[in-house]
Amino acid sequence: MKPRVFITRLIPDIGIKKLQEVAEVKVWSGELPPPREVLMQEVKEVDGLVSLLTDKIDGELMDAGKNLKVISNYAVGFDNIDLDAATQRGLLVTNTPGVLTETTADLAFALLLATARSVVWADKFTREGKWKTWEPLKFLGQDIYGAQLGLLGFGRIGCAVAKRARGFDMKVKYYDLFRNEQAEKELGVEYASIDEILTQSDFISLHVPLTKDTRHLINKDSLKKMKKNAVIINTARGPIINEDDLYEALVNGTIWAAGLDVMDPEPPRADHPLFKLDNVVVLPHIASASIATRNKMALMAAENMIAGLRGEIPPNLVNT
Ligand code: DGY
Repeated sequence: MKPRVFITRLIPDIGIKKLQEVAEVKVWSGELPPPREVLMQEVKEVDGLVSLLTDKIDGELMDAGKNLKVISNYAVGFDNIDLDAATQRGLLVTNTPGVLTETTADLAFALLLATARSVVWADKFTREGKWKTWEPLKFLGQDIYGAQLGLLGFGRIGCAVAKRARGFDMKVKYYDLFRNEQAEKELGVEYASIDEILTQSDFISLHVPLTKDTRHLINKDSLKKMKKNAVIINTARGPIINEDDLYEALVNGTIWAAGLDVMDPEPPRADHPLFKLDNVVVLPHIASASIATRNKMALMAAENMIAGLRGEIPPNLVNT
């Protein structure tokens, strides 16, 4: 009998087809994530679960899955999964690293450019018919060329952002728990303390995973240390920034602007105060959203699942 797999949303066909070669696959085709009770019901029947970052996978859910062996997350981040609970229950958890690095770095840089130069605000102004003349003092932004970029987190995506920054002659410093001396040499970047990053950078881009240590890493105190012209970019996870503190800092001119691809919670409420500010660009968590990358993520999630169901160690296992 074929193993059973539940996929919690429609993912690119290439991943679904791959899984169908070896498993009986059921896909939740709703536009929104399956409600908790649906997930609790579906997990009872399956050997494998392909989850998304919008699904909370905790011990209770794992216990409902009597035959569950593999949880293949369709994302590089896996903060939606209680990893300790999975490990205690002997469940394999996998993610999709590497394939979305460059696409995510592209979007981090797009946000950086758009935010520094008021691209979205100026576009709105133009469409609203407000362009009356060439203005010497309107939409004056921050130069990217030659500015200092601070990266908090220097894994694959942080490195890929640093590579792009070189093309703009930016001076790049990074903080990470681990020093990467090879990348320092290759990319001409410097290791620095968090405080140096906060106090010296013109642009700060976040590339740390969400953990109990990084939750609200950017808060009132850290924002106060930043330069008045500082622009903060978040393509990592929303809760790394305390949004109330960020709002205050943007309104009071403590920092210049923010570019966010992620929020806390997601989706944010429609009348979120940050949406009223012209010095904020907000996107609906689309950093990995290119056709090629989402296809690669789907294939990788399928391959991880298949290996786990065969009793092999999946290529992208995140627990041991
Ligand atoms: C991830 O993979 O963790 C991104 O946030 C979505 O692709």
